[in-house]
Amino acid sequence: MSKMVQIVILGASGDLTARKLIPALFHSFCNQFFTDPIQIVGVARRSWDQEIFRQQLKSKIDLSLLDPKSSSKRYWTQFIQKINYFQIDLSDGQKYFQLADYLREIADGTCQRIFYLAIKPDLFLPTVTGLSKAGLLEKKDGISARVVIEKPFGNNLASAKKLNLELSNLINEKQLYRIDHYLGKETVQNILAFRFRNAFVEPLWNQRYVKLVQISVCESSLVGERAGYYDSSGALRDMVQNHLLQLIALVAMEAPASLEGDAIRNEKVKVLESLRCPTTMGKPEQHVVRGQYNGYLSEKEVDKGSTTENYIACRTYIDNWRWGGVPFVIRTGKGLRHRFTSITIHFVMPPHNLFGSWQHKQTQPNNITLRIQPQEGIDISFDVKEPSSPQTMRSAKLSFEYEEFFEHPTPDAYQRLLQDVILGDQSLFIRSDEVEACWVWADSLRNMMNNQPLYNYGTGSWGPEISNTLFGDEAFSWVVPVN
Ligand code: BG6
Repeated sequence: MSKMVQIVILGASGDLTARKLIPALFHSFCNQFFTDPIQIVGVARRSWDQEIFRQQLKSKIDLSLLDPKSSSKRYWTQFIQKINYFQIDLSDGQKYFQLADYLREIADGTCQRIFYLAIKPDLFLPTVTGLSKAGLLEKKDGISARVVIEKPFGNNLASAKKLNLELSNLINEKQLYRIDHYLGKETVQNILAFRFRNAFVEPLWNQRYVKLVQISVCESSLVGERAGYYDSSGALRDMVQNHLLQLIALVAMEAPASLEGDAIRNEKVKVLESLRCPTTMGKPEQHVVRGQYNGYLSEKEVDKGSTTENYIACRTYIDNWRWGGVPFVIRTGKGLRHRFTSITIHFVMPPHNLFGSWQHKQTQPNNITLRIQPQEGIDISFDVKEPSSPQTMRSAKLSFEYEEFFEHPTPDAYQRLLQDVILGDQSLFIRSDEVEACWVWADSLRNMMNNQPLYNYGTGSWGPEISNTLFGDEAFSWVVPVN
């Protein structure tokens, strides 16, 4: 029996809806993902009606960008008919009853409801409470509504725990989808596929053969219009607590028993719980560097005396059997020279040197680089002997490029994530214990770095130079994009 899929976006007047959620749903529509009828309902305080909402979306969406190869305009005409708008003030608990009446009125019969909370974090709990009181989260015809929550989920361990607890009184964990859009990126999902599908990779992926792991999530953009939010958050809460820790978990976890949601999340949690607590590491200056870009204090809505960091680099360890003693050196920052995200696994040198001196190899051990974005691909670096020379070695590279290899462009992260919510697959979403494990470590890092200097750096640079010292070994430095 076909059922209606009703996607309700709360806080729909914000940028996320027009720039990410609607394009993601539209792509899914063009690709015939939906086998059941769909309805999209934008909910916000603005006194718009359905027509204005549709116009607003249309004005922000570049149709030619949406689906250049298909007849996107024709699809768009069909798609936009499915978009509705309902005006309420989400902070007013009584209004959720009106919303419930409206949603039931436009979709009677069997209906899978999905509530996407594209709202400020302080509204998460009141909104879920409102939905619950209005009976919108109850099971009906054997179907329970699902709720998607954007980050930040809490702003420290205590608040995340409190939110988890309060939400658990209103909604089952199986209905909750805590989103981290990095997990929806094709290249991030490929980390597990690369590791566990290729027999040559896994035997090397441990402390016996790996010397160091480095992860960069660099952005060239500044804080822009989100300065108000960002100033109270900083790079630690905005990027490290979520995206970077997720990357570490995927790189370091054991093979799950299956690809089932909890099997993957169980393994990730074990890694997160094995992260060495920064405050126990001593000598903070050898483990963390924080920075602020020049000009940050003049950004609109930024406190003039703000000490919020726009850059963090740190060295950490995973205290378990597989990774004991291997440094994980990570960095993220805004206003850097290029936007790029990559993960490099540096392997140990062979135990005995038969081929001449190491020379340049001292700075370039064998490695595998997973290029997450924007030039998605994988590089494997190794040495080859220079022709006609018995001992001169050169570093060569095998590269795989997504764009060349696959005919279709990689889908946007939100497209995959929204499809998974519709399918009821939680594997790419963060579980309650996972978010708490991330906060345990992030809170400890915050405590450790609070008394550390805040280094200024120029926009367009690679951040504070001193962060190179975190490798603690001259053979290593930050990987940067080749071009
Ligand atoms: C968001 C952060 O979660 O991720 C932003 O709040 C950041 O500050 C963004 O710019 C980066 O995402 P992406 O996909 O562009 O790397």
